[in-house]
Amino acid sequence: MESASTSAQTRNGFWGWLDDRLGVGGLRYPVPEHANSLAYTLGGITLASFVGLVLTGIYLAQFYDPTPEAAHASVTYITDTAFAGELIRSLHYWLASAFVITLVLHLVRTFATASFKAPREMTWISGVVLFFLTAGLLFSGTVLKADQEAIEALEHNNEIADLFGFLGFWFSADFTDNLSALTRLYVAHVSILPILVAAVLAIHMLLIKRHRMAPLPWGSAAEMAAREQAEHAEPFTSHLKHIGKWALVVVGATLLLSGLVPAGLGPAGVEGIEITKPPWYFLWLYPLENWFGLDALWIVPGILGLGLVALPFLDRSPERDPRRRRIWIALGAIALVAWLFLTIYGAATVPVSHTEAGGG
Ligand code: HEM
Repeated sequence: MESASTSAQTRNGFWGWLDDRLGVGGLRYPVPEHANSLAYTLGGITLASFVGLVLTGIYLAQFYDPTPEAAHASVTYITDTAFAGELIRSLHYWLASAFVITLVLHLVRTFATASFKAPREMTWISGVVLFFLTAGLLFSGTVLKADQEAIEALEHNNEIADLFGFLGFWFSADFTDNLSALTRLYVAHVSILPILVAAVLAIHMLLIKRHRMAPLPWGSAAEMAAREQAEHAEPFTSHLKHIGKWALVVVGATLLLSGLVPAGLGPAGVEGIEITKPPWYFLWLYPLENWFGLDALWIVPGILGLGLVALPFLDRSPERDPRRRRIWIALGAIALVAWLFLTIYGAATVPVSHTEAGGG
């Protein structure tokens, strides 16, 4: 029988061999202990949800047909016929929600603890880019199922693209007669946007490693520096175990939700009517569109994006403690309450028509 020491030697030998060739030992760089708390693991959970989305998305792509004539029927095929199709599709749907929720909480945490301050401005800005790429993924994903909600989302896409004239041409239905807008959005959803997310994510991660995790924000700059010096550090590989633990919670929760509330699919969409509302993550835009028209759909996200990019250059004091950044925390809280209010209001209002295609 193999002794414990021999098996440890073999394992060390194997990892030593792998480390010599791949440098995997480099992953054991020190990470401060506070990074293992849930608040500081949210970005890692977002990343784990993204990996889950890619895996379930690859399975769905084996059955999905991205042509306007066949798209809806192929989604029906996935739910009714493909092996475990309904479960995987529902997992994809619920993982997207987990991704959005943890992403927003991660943004709120980095905002509240002022992690965007020097020298982490570019980490924050790469995060803002990820935020908007995510919105693109959510939007293009909504269109793919080709039910009524999807057709109306596509009509919004086309009319907003037309508002931008030459600048919106790439996104407009007139860009080419050779391929439908649905097929081009499919290419964006499964190829262009995930590649961009992966590339920007790599920059985000490299910057986090370069600047290390920001210290806990409590107290003066001198107190923070002293605490940072004294804080116990653990290898990054241990931090990965904490992320893994939470990733299992996400898998469990999304599996449960998939069983209880499978992803829905309406009947095949009809052009020329507007009777649905967007999915919950875009619902906050719905009342804005009711009040201010189609323009609100690019003006408000535009202002939000510019504000987020400008933040590290506006809030520049070395102060990180949220209790001493009352104005900024109040502004953040107002934005969050407005988002919540608009979402609930959007859920409660009766659907109306906004686009010309929808008769509005
Ligand atoms: C696909 C989306 C994103 C992923 C997967 C991601 C991932 C991560 C991870 C794994 C960390 C390490 C610490 C943690 O987990 O809290 C982190 C840190 C950070 N992220 Fe993100 N992130 C994303 C989007 C964002 C967004 C939208 C923002 C803000 C606009 C942002 C800003 C930051 C900042 C400033 C840090 C440094 C935190 C510190 O040092 O305390 N990230 N991100």
